Amino acid sequence: MSSFFYYVIMKLMIDMRKKKKKLRLKSSVKLFLVLVVFLFIGCNIAKVTYDDYLYKKSSDYAILQLGYSVDDLKLIDSKLNDEQKWHIAKDIGNNEFIMNFIKCDYFIAKNLDAYLKQTVTKEEDFWHYKKPDYYKYDELVAKVNTKTDNEYYTETVETNMDLGSAILVNKYYYLPEEYEPDDLVDIEWKYRFGNKNDHIKVRQETYEHFLDMWNAANEAGYYLMAYSGYRSTEHQKRIYNEYLNKNGVSYADSIAARPGHSEHSTGLALDIYSKTCSQASLFKDTKAYQWLLNNSYKYGFILRYPEGKSKLTGYNFESWHYRYVGVELAEKVYNSGLTYDEYYAFYLEK
Ligand code: DAL
Ligand code: ZN
Repeated sequence: MSSFFYYVIMKLMIDMRKKKKKLRLKSSVKLFLVLVVFLFIGCNIAKVTYDDYLYKKSSDYAILQLGYSVDDLKLIDSKLNDEQKWHIAKDIGNNEFIMNFIKCDYFIAKNLDAYLKQTVTKEEDFWHYKKPDYYKYDELVAKVNTKTDNEYYTETVETNMDLGSAILVNKYYYLPEEYEPDDLVDIEWKYRFGNKNDHIKVRQETYEHFLDMWNAANEAGYYLMAYSGYRSTEHQKRIYNEYLNKNGVSYADSIAARPGHSEHSTGLALDIYSKTCSQASLFKDTKAYQWLLNNSYKYGFILRYPEGKSKLTGYNFESWHYRYVGVELAEKVYNSGLTYDEYYAFYLEK
């Protein structure tokens, strides 16, 4: 009997211990959970504080502090890298013109300071004072992109020959000294003006594409004739000096390139007229010119000095001067509606 009681008491004691253990276990789990929650909240607070600290040290924050709107910042962000954004935040500050430049389709971030140096005339002032000045931001952007905000033949650089038939040669980009292409070929007499024994040369690839274009034009009823092709630096010098001596520097610069700066010295340019019109001043009124204007890009040629673009190309309109850049690129340039100087700055050099 006593052993029965002993057994019952022992069982009760064991059960109580187990219960206590269970209880103890439950509160430690609770404690653990509370700790996890606190840790989670703490981490989050720390993260938010750290993010806030980082944000306040960012160029975005600095720009907003200057008074730019969130939309301005979005646009700035899409066109400038962090270093350039800091340049706004630290050096430029709040500028009333800056967003008008950044909004332009052909805005190039590295040119920002040069854009801001331009005199901006408000549209109403422009018409009021009839100033021969700019008021359109797109025009100012184009002016800076093409370097024409500089005097002609200043800030010149050697052109990047690695670009092959896409090289830019103009009043600011020159060819390496004494450059002469090594694949010049003669244009057959049938396709050019001059005596049979004369030579008009262009680079091989330019010639092949000229022949394709010639055939297509011929099928359309036009007989194209090359008038000028490759010119050595010496040859270009003679041409330029002739105009210079006769008519002075600004006239010479408006129609001829200085030596080293002529597309004719690349072997990629051709002056083209038609059999029935060999006169420069009249070619623009011919149907052959219209055909070239609308079709030359299909054969890799672009009209290099278009009408109304003298301020950007630096040359008077030349309805006859075509430059081979390759079929793919010519189509892109044609579709862009840009001069090659603008296209190069935005798409090839930027
Ligand atoms: N007439 C063009 C601009 C040249 O001289 O190259
Ligand atoms: Zn020419």
